[in-house]
Amino acid sequence: MTKRFQDKVAVVTGSASGIGAAVSRMLIEEGALVVGADIGEAAQTALAADLGERYIPVSANVTVEAEVKDLVGVAMERFGRLDLGFNIAGGGRLSMLMEMSETDWDFTVDLCLKGVFLSTKHEAAAMAPGSAIVNVASLNAHVPAHGFSAYTSAKAGVEMFSRNAALELAGRGIRVNCVLPGLVETPATGPFVSNQAILSAFMERIPAKRPAQPAEIAAPCLFLASAEASYVSGSSLLVDGAWGTTGYPDLRTWIGEFKP
Ligand SMILES: NC(=O)c1ccc[n+]([C@@H]2O[C@H](COP(=O)([O-])OP(=O)(O)OC[C@H]3O[C@@H](n4cnc5c(N)ncnc54)[C@H](O)[C@@H]3O)[C@@H](O)[C@H]2O)c1
Repeated sequence: MTKRFQDKVAVVTGSASGIGAAVSRMLIEEGALVVGADIGEAAQTALAADLGERYIPVSANVTVEAEVKDLVGVAMERFGRLDLGFNIAGGGRLSMLMEMSETDWDFTVDLCLKGVFLSTKHEAAAMAPGSAIVNVASLNAHVPAHGFSAYTSAKAGVEMFSRNAALELAGRGIRVNCVLPGLVETPATGPFVSNQAILSAFMERIPAKRPAQPAEIAAPCLFLASAEASYVSGSSLLVDGAWGTTGYPDLRTWIGEFKP
């Protein structure tokens, strides 16, 4: 059977861990060449050893425009084309808004929102018609949670930015879509998932009664980038085990444990 992404060239940000690593692995299994950007050098080295020569690890911080430009430059110098962009790097510092410092707000909003803007901008500049970009936001783009105001605001921004990008890039033949995961078992959510009380509070609200595995987010990301989604652009896909139907638990008891 023909692989869906045979010899397509992809940039994946936040590629060394969690959802980004799952997307990188799945793309390579489906025939793609992946230029993966991350700031975590040890994780990059380990993933590169695992995925082999179709994975090109690049040390790049998505909040720094020159580094994002150089990242896309690696794909162009190495392969002469860029077909796919998966903008996944993200995370944040949790704090109740009355205690949140300006530094922590900026950290979260820059990482989640500015990083997606810079990545989309430079990927699109290198892409030919028929290319596709998938940005990863979060269920928190729609659902607030105690201590999450910077993150929820940034992720809501990622969703709207993706729609705006779909509008502006349609004339270049580039599709842009957004995936909104619920709770996914990754290093980022380890502190939640490994705390039994917090996990129980989440499970009371998540109808699927379990977190997703990273591959369960990667597969919908690849669908949106594939030819099967050739008329899908400016769309958002919730991948949350129906969590969006119930809302977040009250995390105030625990939020102090996750302050930077
Ligand atoms: N895990 C979840 O439950 C969940 C839910 C909804 C949305 N998300 C989103 O999915 C994305 C991936 O999350 P994850 O759980 O896989 O996280 P993760 O921590 O496992 O992986 C994130 C990767 O991004 C890298 N990174 C961090 N800052 C960076 C920067 N400035 N430049 C480049 N790389 C950087 C990290 O080194 C790490 O390898 C994030 O945008 C996150 O907000 C995650």
